[in-house]
Formats: sequence, structure tokens, C-alpha cells
Amino acid sequence: MFTPLPSSYYGFVSLGLFCLLSPLLLRPIHAIPRRANQPWSIILCKFRGNQFEPHDRQWFVDWLIGNGKNGTIAQFFDDVSNGLYTITDSNVFGWYEIPWTKGDIEQLAKIDPVLDAHEDISLKKYYKTKELCIAVARNQGASLHERKITIINDDHTAVFCKENGVLLTPKFLMSSALAHEMTHSFFVGHSYSDKNIKVFPYSAMGEYDDKYDLMSTANALMHDTSFGLAGPGLNGPHLDYLGWLPMHRTFYFGRDGHQNYVLRLSSLSVPHEKTADWLMIYIPYDKDNPGNFYTVEYRTPVSNDEGIGRGSVVIHRVKNRDGVYFSYIVTHHEYYELAEGTEWIDFFEQTNEGGFRYIRVRVEKIFTNQNIVDVRITSTFNHTECSSSELKTLLPPHGYLCLPRQNLTATISPQHIEQHRRRSNFFADMKTWGLNSCNDGYVWRGLDQYDYVCVTKPRRIEAARESGWDGLQRDDTTTQCTPNFLERQAFHGDKMCVTPEERARILAENAEAKNRIKYYKFFNGKDSVEE
Ligand SMILES: *[C@@H]1O[C@H](CO)[C@@H](O)[C@H](O)[C@H]1NC(C)=O
Ligand SMILES: *[C@@H]1O[C@H](CO)[C@@H](O)[C@H](O)[C@H]1NC(C)=O
Ligand SMILES: *[C@@H]1O[C@H](CO)[C@@H](O)[C@H](O)[C@H]1NC(C)=O
Repeated sequence: MFTPLPSSYYGFVSLGLFCLLSPLLLRPIHAIPRRANQPWSIILCKFRGNQFEPHDRQWFVDWLIGNGKNGTIAQFFDDVSNGLYTITDSNVFGWYEIPWTKGDIEQLAKIDPVLDAHEDISLKKYYKTKELCIAVARNQGASLHERKITIINDDHTAVFCKENGVLLTPKFLMSSALAHEMTHSFFVGHSYSDKNIKVFPYSAMGEYDDKYDLMSTANALMHDTSFGLAGPGLNGPHLDYLGWLPMHRTFYFGRDGHQNYVLRLSSLSVPHEKTADWLMIYIPYDKDNPGNFYTVEYRTPVSNDEGIGRGSVVIHRVKNRDGVYFSYIVTHHEYYELAEGTEWIDFFEQTNEGGFRYIRVRVEKIFTNQNIVDVRITSTFNHTECSSSELKTLLPPHGYLCLPRQNLTATISPQHIEQHRRRSNFFADMKTWGLNSCNDGYVWRGLDQYDYVCVTKPRRIEAARESGWDGLQRDDTTTQCTPNFLERQAFHGDKMCVTPEERARILAENAEAKNRIKYYKFFNGKDSVEE
């Protein structure tokens, strides 16, 4: 089938995501986290006079939604999201022969005023190609979904833009490439390592170097399937961002007051329902920002992660950079993972006394057959103690303040007192955590363990109570809700019977959700969160 491409070749032509045109139609979208069935359409498109068809239409149907076969796109998303994101009812149209050659389209792209804003000529050309292929398909009666994948029979690229979605060429008809480009549509950029290397000539430092993440394809740990290379799954921070981790199985280290103990982690690579232990640990390192943390996860060579060599403990650093959160896989010399018996230590802060605060993660024992690992985590993170760049200044009635040493002549301001208050309540204020943290005053609705909609505490209690009507208000024979009750539809597949008033509250909360998520932003890159 497909010979694996040397990654340098793949990367050089894989243009990635930032395909910014002057926005034609921007609709705000409240879809982080992403929990939905979203059908996609593939449009197969041949240039005038070029009869080459890398595969027939049926092959593309099988690739996209083929039943139960490894390497299909439907299977990838179903597995990586644990059934929260599906593409049921996706369809494939073509092959269409369009009345333009590649050269014709390049000319059209050059003179198209709408494309003038675009800085990159090659992207202009692909933008135009998609536009024309889609127009021809529509003309011939194809009923296309909003999310589109155009496949052309020449050229070398894999690219996603908000306008008209993904474009792929014959060399990129492999699951990793398509799933990667589709994932860009969830407001996710490329992933990074902490290494000072450039994987491809045009990429940023460390970009495409997270071996354990699809968004570093093709430099990541892929495996062969009958549809070309596939996987790996997504890294823990990406899963968190997309709402694909159950909230009761992620743990923010230190919240319970303990700083040194063994935690058991289940593999993220197997279905959640088949495991029972923690899926991800957050370890804070910044007392002024609980959103800056390390994550610890366990991955095993099954399903989308078949390409990883063996059971591996993987650490990421999540860090706010100019207002945007990025994830960096933490490397250990040449390794990207920790094996049994190895440890990682990070001295993240100098103390006032000249010592260091540190975080240590040690892999105690890997239980290969049970998909679990025991990890000892030790942290001397102290959310109240001053660091070496600060001077501890006694100040009744607050006890003390940590004042920046470089500006000791400055008067004590309300900002200093507020900073002290926030640090003191670092854990006490933490009702939600991770990339789906709610703004102050809100908690996760938690209708199930993946319901990250932020609501007030009373509403959380009320919504749970309103769920209690269900058994009473469902007709045993038809399994429909009885008259005067409605299906709640809080999320895709939610058929709970509730009162019309409760349904209205739930829908209003869903509409408001994006305004209540603390970090409602593009992840791993700079772009808008609008479609
Ligand atoms: C898919 O891959 C798994 C290994 O990850 C294997 O056990 C299974 O048999 C494969 N299924 C098919 C239909 O090829
Ligand atoms: C953090 O520092 C404060 C002040 O020195 C101390 O009282 C407290 O015990 C420390 N907390 C932990 C968890 O070590
Ligand atoms: C020092 O403090 C003064 C007054 O509070 C402030 O205007 C100035 O920006 C501070 N300088 C630094 C380097 O923080």
C-alpha cells in the first residue's frame, strides 16, 4: 500500500494550519470541549485532462467510515474520544473532473481579489482549488456537510483552513494525515517538545516533536494499517482541552494537602470503561497561575497507540505564553518517556533560603497486562512561601507579603495584597482544574463525568436533582418521555427526560458555556476560536 514517507519529506509539504484569509463568514462556536456527532464530506476532484484516480470512491468510503476496520477515520475519533466525537453519516462524492488544470487554478488564484490578503501563494492555490471542486460537486447535486475534505489527484500537500476545511493530495492518503488536519478544526495547533530543535526547516523550536501526539504527525509514533500510517492518539493536554477525559479520573496534585505518594495510573490508550485508575495527573509549578502545570499520563501500544514501543509514562509541561497555552513533551536526554525504574526531577524555583523547590516523578512499577502503572510523585511546591526573587515582608494583618526584590522602594499596592490572597487560596479556590477550568464562581455541571459546561453551584445541584425525574417520566413500552416531559439533550446522545423548564435552562447554559470557561482560547497556537 503506502510506503512510509521519510518524515522530512512529509513535513516539508505538510503546511499545517494557519490559513488565515480575511474572514468571510465568522460564526462564534461553543464547541470546546468537542462533544458531538459531526459528519464530514469528502469531495474527490480531478484536474482537467488528468484521469488519475489513486483509489476508487468505495475505497474512500471504507477509509472514512468503514465498519470496525483498524485505520478508519471514524474508528480513530471514536477511540481517541471514547465515543464523544463521532462522524456518523459522513459521505463521499466524486470523482468529479473539473474544467480547469492545475495551472489554470494558479492563474485564477493570483487574480482573485478575495485571496489578496493571503500572504502565501501556495495556500492561495489550494484555497482556490477547494472552492472550485466544491462548487462543481454542488452543481452536480452533491449534498455536502459543513465540514469538508477535498481530495485532488495531483500535487503534494495536506492542509487545513477554516474556509472549506481540509485538502489532501495522493501522497497523503493515510489516516494520520487526515485525522491530524481534521483535528486542527477543533482549534488545536501542532504539539511541541521541550527540545531546542527544528524538526522541519519552516517549523518553530520543538514544533512537531511530541512523539506521543497526532498533532506532531509525521514525526510521531505512527503504525501501519491497511489505510496507510495511523495514530498516535492525542496527548493528555489535548484530550483535556477537548473534554475527552472524565473529570473524576483526573487529579490535581497537592489539593489534598499531600506532597509525596504513589498514584496508580491507567493507560490512556485503552477505553476508559475498561480501566478504573487515574488517567491524568496535573502537578502545579507556578503559584501565580494554576493553569501552568505538568501532566503525567500512561500510554500503551494498543489501538491508536499501536506504534509506540511499550508502556510509557509521558510528561508534558503546559505553559501560558503570551496569553495562549502550549503543551511541551518533557524529554529526558534522548528519550520522550519514562520506563520502569526511571525518574525525572525538575527544580522549578529557588527558595528564599537558597535551596530549590522540585518535582520528582518516579515510575515504580509497570503492570503490562493490566494497563496500569504505579508512579511516585513528590513535590515541594508551596503556594504561600516566597521565592528567591521576592522578599518576605511582615505586614499585619496579612501576616506577610512576598514583594519583588527588584522594586523594594515601591509602595505596597492592592495588587500585592490581591496576589497574596490568591496564592493563599490557591487550592481552596480550586473548584475545577485543567484546560476546562471555569471562571470564579462556576463549577462543572457534571451531568456525567464528561459534562464540562460551567454553571453555578446551586444549578449543579438542581440539574442533578432534575435528572431524578427520568425513571418516572419515561414510558416503559415506547421508551419515550411521557407528555409534558422532553429529552434533555444537554450533550450529544443525552435522552434524559426532564421538564420543559429544565430543558430550557440546560440549553441556555450550553449557549453560555464559552463565556464561563477560563481558558477559552486556541490551544497550541495563535488563532481565533471561530469557524
Ligand atoms: C485492530 O488492531 C488490534 C490491535 O490494536 C487487533 O487486536 C485487532 O484484531 C485489529 N482488528 C482488525 C479488524 O483488524
Ligand atoms: C509552605 O510554607 C509555609 C510558610 O513557610 C509553611 O507554613 C507551610 O507548612 C508550607 N506548606 C507546605 C505544604 O510545605
Ligand atoms: C516599581 O514600582 C513603581 C511604583 O509602584 C512602578 O511604577 C514601577 O513600574 C515598578 N518597576 C518595576 C521594574 O517593577
